[in-house]
Amino acid sequence: MTRTITTHSEDETAAVGRELAATLSAGDVLLLYGDLGAGKTAFVRGLAEGLGVERDEVSSPTFTLIQEYRGGRLPLFHVDLYRIEDPREFDELGLDEIAEDGVLAIEWAEKLAARLQPSRYVSVHIEHGDGDTRTILTGSSALPS
Ligand SMILES: Nc1ncnc2c1ncn2[C@@H]1O[C@H](COP(=O)(O)OP(=O)(O)OP(=O)(O)O)[C@@H](O)[C@H]1O
Ligand SMILES: [Mg+2]
Repeated sequence: MTRTITTHSEDETAAVGRELAATLSAGDVLLLYGDLGAGKTAFVRGLAEGLGVERDEVSSPTFTLIQEYRGGRLPLFHVDLYRIEDPREFDELGLDEIAEDGVLAIEWAEKLAARLQPSRYVSVHIEHGDGDTRTILTGSSALPS
């Protein structure tokens, strides 16, 4: 199941995340793809808001690979893999276990390769268009067990 949405501002992209939040349950993993400045963090900010976490708390986890936001309907774990260099760092994060307790949103998911294989995931691809236009493709999938 895929869906394509065009947005024209950061707030519109956040709103897409906010709507998606209502459909999520514990154990859901969001894989976010898109270039620098595509709007992945903006999307996660909306996600946080939709889960009932203060959106102001959400920024790219620059100095830590993972940030945790509590106080909402479900805990939100926010990971940014942009700076990850050694694939062994993935394993040290223990993402598989973290994912069970709440919602896990991963920026630069392409860096994961085949290391994380969630049984259920939502993929979010954000593509730059002209100016402030972004195309967001969301899809969900169940991997064969
Ligand atoms: N339609 C739009 N959706 C989202 N962001 C937009 C849009 N139009 C303009 N922007 C701007 O693009 C930037 C998106 O930044 P954001 O940090 O969310 O990107 P990112 O994909 O997380 O990048 P990074 O890979 O560096 O983490 C912001 O400065 C935002 O204001
Ligand atoms: Mg970001």
